[in-house]
Amino acid sequence: MTRTFETVGVVGLGTMGAGIAEVFARAGMRVIGVEADEEALGRGRGHLSTSTSRAVAKGRMTAEQQAALLGRITFTTSREDLADADLVIEAIPEIMEYKRGLFSDLDRICKPSAVLATNTSSLSVTAIAATTSRPAQVVGMHFFNPAPVMKLVEVISTVVTEDGLAAEIADLARRLGKTPVTVGDRAGFVVNRLLLGYLNHACGLLESGLAGRDDIDAAVKLGLGLPMGPFTLLDLIGLDTSYEVCEVLFRESRDRRHAPAPVLREFVTAGLLGRKTGRGFYSYA
Ligand code: CAA
Repeated sequence: MTRTFETVGVVGLGTMGAGIAEVFARAGMRVIGVEADEEALGRGRGHLSTSTSRAVAKGRMTAEQQAALLGRITFTTSREDLADADLVIEAIPEIMEYKRGLFSDLDRICKPSAVLATNTSSLSVTAIAATTSRPAQVVGMHFFNPAPVMKLVEVISTVVTEDGLAAEIADLARRLGKTPVTVGDRAGFVVNRLLLGYLNHACGLLESGLAGRDDIDAAVKLGLGLPMGPFTLLDLIGLDTSYEVCEVLFRESRDRRHAPAPVLREFVTAGLLGRKTGRGFYSYA
C-alpha cells in the first residue's frame, strides 16, 4: 500500500516543530499544528509568521504564497483534532516520559492507517514505538535546525517497522525538497552521534582554558569552512537539547567522552538555553 500523506499533524511548535510545519505546508500539504496551551500555540504561530515573513522579505516567497502557506496550517490545543491525519510528527521536548504519553494518546486518537513519526534527536524510536499498538507504523523522521533550510532528513526504522515504510517516508522527504538518509535505531543516529561528541569536546576545550569562545568559533569556522563555530551552533540547537543528547549518548555508550561538559549543565540549570531564551554562550538582544 502506498500512502498519500495529504494531512500531516505536527505536535509541538517550538523551533523544530514550527520549522517542520512550515516545510510541509510549503509542499502543499494540510498541516494541523498542536501545542499544549494557548500561550505555546501563540509562540508557534509567531515562529511561523517570522520565518515566512523573512522569506518574503528576501524575495523567496510572495505575500500571497505566504498567506496560502499559513492558510494550510490549522492551530489547535486539542490532540483529538489529529483523528484524520495521515501522518503525525512529534517534536516535543526530549523527555521519554512525555513522548510515551503522547504516543499512547496518538495511538488511541489517530486512524488505524496513520503513520506516527518522532523527530527525536537521540531517544530510542523502538521504545517509543513499543508504547503503541501499531509499532510497525512508527518511524523516526529527524529534521535539522533550521528545518526550512537544512536539506537532510534522517529516516529511522526499527526492527519492527513495516517493510517499505522507510522507503515511503524517504519519498515523502524528497517531496518536501529534502534528501533522506536511512539509519538504524541507535542513540544520536548518524549526525548527532558525530556532532555532539565534537560540540561537547569544544565545551571541554573552553573549560580547560586552551582558547576562548570567540577564538574557538573563529578557528572552526575559518579553519574548517563550516558555516558556524561550535558555540554559535550550540546556541542554535539549544543547550537543553544538546545536553539531553549528550546524556543519552553517554548512557548508551558509557564512553566518558560523551559525558556532558559541566559548563553545559551550568547553562541549562541557569535557564540560558541559547537563541530561544535570548542568551546562551552568546547574547541575542
Ligand atoms: N528559518 C528559515 N530560514 C532561515 C532560518 C530560519 N531559522 N535561518 C536562516 N534561514 C535562511 C535565510 O533566510 C537565508 O535564506 P536565503 O539564502 O534564501 O536568503 C539562508 O537561510 C541563509 O541564512 P543567512 O544568510 O541569514 O545566514 P547564513 O548564511 O549564516 O545561514 C544557517 C544560516 C543556514 C543557519 C547556516 O549558518 C548553517 O547552515 N548553520 C549550521 C546549521 C547546522 O549545522 N544545523 C544542524 C544542527 S544539528 C540539528 O539540528 C540536529 C539535532 O537534532 C540537534
